[in-house]
Amino acid sequence: MSGEGPGARHVAIIMDGNGRWAKRRHLPRAMGHRKGVEAVRELVRSLKETSIECLTLYAFSSENWKRPEEEVDDLMNLMRKFIKSDLPEFIANDVKLHILGDWQGLAADIVEMLEDALAQTSGGSRTLAVALNYGSHAEITRAAKLAAADGEITEQAIEHHLFSAELPPLDLLIRTSGEVRLSNFLLWQAAYAEMLFTDVLWPDFTPDHLKRALDDFETRERRFGGR
Ligand code: FPP
Repeated sequence: MSGEGPGARHVAIIMDGNGRWAKRRHLPRAMGHRKGVEAVRELVRSLKETSIECLTLYAFSSENWKRPEEEVDDLMNLMRKFIKSDLPEFIANDVKLHILGDWQGLAADIVEMLEDALAQTSGGSRTLAVALNYGSHAEITRAAKLAAADGEITEQAIEHHLFSAELPPLDLLIRTSGEVRLSNFLLWQAAYAEMLFTDVLWPDFTPDHLKRALDDFETRERRFGGR
């Protein structure tokens, strides 16, 4: 099924609900994150059947450092495993990796793995953009400073210095698990994005849920402030 409007080119997702998914099953939180990575993997595999040119995922916010050390370690280890196990698949499926955030501030071995993954996937045609150590306020502040250093703070100059500068305009922002807030994610980029909030917990989010979200997007009338 598809609606009247054009398909979404850039979709971003706040992947929320891993902890609740695990709690409902009396499992450790780490299991929820592990299932969350599986959901990411399936979604990336399904990209080629969609209109999506860029999928941006909020994997680790700059505020996530406040979580207990054990959970932060779990998330970082999942990241290491994910890059190692899925890099060959990205390359085979023409997926280009992009990273948003202050990722150079992560552990040195992760930075090295990411640099390698960026280099090896640079020829891909669809983008998987992962927000790591990301916060929107910090991103906009950094972009404004860089624009000022260039000479003039204009909207175009700020946009040019956002981590998303090379990505298509954001069409659709999805948040799972029933929370209805943006949590410092893509605040600038979401100015005219459509929003979709679903009660589905992230580990339960499937390519089919994504397809339904894309169908819903196509039925929406976007006016960008006009009428
Ligand atoms: C929110 O669930 C999820 C996160 C803070 C991390 C998201 C990370 C992943 C899905 C795995 C890593 C991603 C990649 C790309 C390897 P929550 O713990 O806040 O859940 P809760 O609100 O139910 O407690």
